[in-house]
Amino acid sequence: MRLVLYTGKGGVGKTTTAAATAIHAAKAGKRTLLLSADASHSLSDVLGRRVGAAPVEIIPNLTAIEVDAQAEIKRHWGKVHDFLVSLFQHQGIDGVLAEELALLPGAEEITTLFAVDEFARSGDYDFAVVDCAPTDTTLRLLTLPEVAHKSVRLLLKIQRSLAKVMTPLAKGMVSAPLPDAAVFAEIEALLYAKLRGLRERIVAEDTTVRLVVTTEKMVIEEARRAFTDLCLFGLRCDAVVINRLLPEAALREPFYREWGDVQKDRTVSIAEAFAPLRILNGVLQREEVVGATALAEHGRDLFSDCEPDALLASVEPISFHRKGDQYSVTIPLPGADLHALDIAKVEGDLLVKSASMNRALKLPRRMALLDVSEAHFRDGVLSVFFRVSPACSAGTPQGNA
Ligand SMILES: Nc1ncnc2c1ncn2[C@@H]1O[C@H](COP(=O)(O)OP(=O)(O)OP(=O)(O)O)[C@@H](O)[C@H]1O
Ligand SMILES: [Mg+2]
Repeated sequence: MRLVLYTGKGGVGKTTTAAATAIHAAKAGKRTLLLSADASHSLSDVLGRRVGAAPVEIIPNLTAIEVDAQAEIKRHWGKVHDFLVSLFQHQGIDGVLAEELALLPGAEEITTLFAVDEFARSGDYDFAVVDCAPTDTTLRLLTLPEVAHKSVRLLLKIQRSLAKVMTPLAKGMVSAPLPDAAVFAEIEALLYAKLRGLRERIVAEDTTVRLVVTTEKMVIEEARRAFTDLCLFGLRCDAVVINRLLPEAALREPFYREWGDVQKDRTVSIAEAFAPLRILNGVLQREEVVGATALAEHGRDLFSDCEPDALLASVEPISFHRKGDQYSVTIPLPGADLHALDIAKVEGDLLVKSASMNRALKLPRRMALLDVSEAHFRDGVLSVFFRVSPACSAGTPQGNA
């Protein structure tokens, strides 16, 4: 099943774009599922009709759901949650607050993804579109399976073997509630097995993230950072939606002329910053895009020359590596000509120029402090290596290279 997740800064038009994509795909006959993973659900507002935790048919071929994260948490985290509530209550924390605290950070978002995964496995859908929360939460959501999976694996090994011996003994000696084997079993089932499955789904070739931006500088910067972070975790992005673009007719009005120039410049820099992702243009509509008819029209505009469920950029993701003290980034540049390639590091960006495009990749924070030491271009892949600049390495111990 093809899975597309939309994210971007708050208010840029994520829900609108996700809904327009889903409606357009459903009209083309794709069995489509539209899910909201944003805790402040707004599918109902955008679709102009009530959407809830149970699947609702919006138009033929389109089902929408706003995942009830609380119910999902109960289902997936029941024992862990009950244990934490009893632990907090024992420490004198009021019942309601204890309930609140027991909602582990990220639990709400991750259970939403479990729901997506379950629907994907059902085989009932060809295409799922997820309306995510603003960038930060989405990044936490998408990277959590990787982070949690690794750390929990070790923790589980130690704690489970300890719990078998310790808990029965300790229960007689300590008054605080102690987790029993059932809690660990649940953590194992959830965080280990399910997270692994989720991680596979998220990095699968048919899962991509699309970044929604407007032409405002801050919005673009946040999306560039997100793009780098998503690459860091092996997630693929395939498109950037530039939303609320002023239409040609408006740009002819004297009042909007300067806005038009800014829009043109920013559109070019967005294409450079996110190359080779496909750029989709979301025109500013005359009024709020609400209801199936307006969304279908917006979807037609967005996907005038491509399919909504297509993989819109098919290259491998950019990847970052570290080997000892050496850091590197590999950038697929299929078809690029070695002799026309030029690279430079300017502040936190790696600039790559080829005959056909300029790219400005935001480097991860650690790499942004380093200097470029060498670069290779082989089989259509550019590898750029970084080392600590002499000024920075002055106090670093030498001799273990
Ligand atoms: N291209 C557009 N033309 C006209 N109005 C738009 C366009 N895109 C979005 N809007 C309007 O802007 C408002 C915010 O859009 P939307 O809810 O999709 O943003 P969001 O990024 O999902 O926000 P949040 O971060 O709060 O979830 C809505 O009223 C929507 O109808
Ligand atoms: Mg939204």
